[in-house]
Amino acid sequence: MESFGHVIAGEEVPSIDGATFPSVDPWEQAPWSTVALGSVPDAERAVDAARKAFDDGPWARMSLAERGQVLHRLADLILANADELALADTTDMGKPISETRGHDVQRSAQNFRFFADHSTVTPAESYPMPSGHHAYTQYEPAGVVAAIAPWNFPLMMASWKVAPALAWGNTVVLKPAEQSPASATILARLALEAGLPPGVLNVVHGFGPRSVGQALTESPLVDRITFTGESTTGRAISRAAALNLTPVSLELGGKGANIVFDDADLEQAVSWSIKAIYSNSGQVCLAGSRLYVQRGIFDEFLERFTRAADQLVIGDPKRDGTQIGPLSSEEHFRKVSGYLDIAVADGARLHTGGVGGGWTVRPTVVIGAEQHARITQEEVFGPVVVILPFDDEPAAIAAANDTPYGLNAMLFTRDLSRAHRVSRALRVGTVWTNCFFVRDLRAPFGGAKNSGVGREGGTYSREFFTEPKAIVMEIANA
Ligand code: NAI
Ligand code: MG
Repeated sequence: MESFGHVIAGEEVPSIDGATFPSVDPWEQAPWSTVALGSVPDAERAVDAARKAFDDGPWARMSLAERGQVLHRLADLILANADELALADTTDMGKPISETRGHDVQRSAQNFRFFADHSTVTPAESYPMPSGHHAYTQYEPAGVVAAIAPWNFPLMMASWKVAPALAWGNTVVLKPAEQSPASATILARLALEAGLPPGVLNVVHGFGPRSVGQALTESPLVDRITFTGESTTGRAISRAAALNLTPVSLELGGKGANIVFDDADLEQAVSWSIKAIYSNSGQVCLAGSRLYVQRGIFDEFLERFTRAADQLVIGDPKRDGTQIGPLSSEEHFRKVSGYLDIAVADGARLHTGGVGGGWTVRPTVVIGAEQHARITQEEVFGPVVVILPFDDEPAAIAAANDTPYGLNAMLFTRDLSRAHRVSRALRVGTVWTNCFFVRDLRAPFGGAKNSGVGREGGTYSREFFTEPKAIVMEIANA
């Protein structure tokens, strides 16, 4: 069995009390690695290391360009070790290797490159004042960042937090999800190899409540908390952060509406809608889990969509052709399969799909659900889509907005004016028209309503990971 330790102050170390936990491969349904199980003292040790590296080390004082060079070296090493990183995530949480190797690892390297470059070329504001003064903004590193990551894109979500935090001169304590710890340790090993000074990126493994996660969020030595995960966890973290008034950035759950109008290119709409709900077995906060299809094309869309869903290849995620692996854990499999029972008990029907072998759920289509049924309202986080008909544009907008979530929406139409109109009417952080998951890393990313607090990406990440300072000086002596 492989083993993965914490990485603290430049060393890979076991827990202070020697505790470990097994990480389970959800396809084999068996442990594949042994991971250091941290508790509060390990979290404190990691925070102390990050604090010391920030206060006394070179990182916060280096130029943006010098830091950028280290981060580019790290991106190179991520790509050079793509197979190991991809296999770690695939074995930890069951995502097909084609997605971890072909997408997640590439995007992780790209996150480091992007924030390294973005930090060096982004202008800061300067205001020549009529009073003869001059004000400008200085973006100073915030300090120690606690990054708490989910299991659905382990390396990619970690890098989305770590890269901007490091680029802007902070030091980091990363706590990966307990279901997917391996790639975080590998990343920290590579960071040391890339020349990141000791203590600048620390990784500490453990659980959330009454464990490492909670200790990080309650620490008075932490200056920023960035979290991605469930909305209820986001609330717990917000409450903990309030003790020290620590700023939080929360990317939380979603129940993405996907609206297909009757003038859409049907083939395009079906193919994106399939990706939107079945990639990573629907374990995606952005998943298009509510499909609203205009009544005139409902039957044809349903038929085409179902045919495509039934063709997806379910199997061993370590094999190249697999499109649907197991769900990330037994606990999560029980949650998702439980939702299928809830949907049926509430009067809906499974048009296709259902529980597969092991911890797999087949690509599932639910029809006949009520707008207010739990299956339509709650985040299932599995390969389960609710397809409902709608009559006109106002009805589609009303239905799409009618959930507690507001992360994202998709719409398919050839009518440009309608695309703009509907995009503006949706209370969400991101709207995709005639596409899905296409990202410009300069654009804001985050959620409205219960889907989050704050935005990251480009200058939004700079705002969060720095302490913007106004510097005002007299230039013309009155
Ligand atoms: P979670 O929100 O409990 O866990 C995410 C991370 O937060 C993990 O690293 C965990 O250890 C940590 N954590 C948990 N409680 C904490 C606390 N009180 N203080 C500090 N850190 C804490 O998500 P979980 O339990 O893995 O999944 C539950 C559900 O959440 C899923 O079924 C899914 O619906 C949703 N989810 C949504 C994600 C998203 O991207 N929106 C990602 C992961 C899960
Ligand atoms: Mg949990």
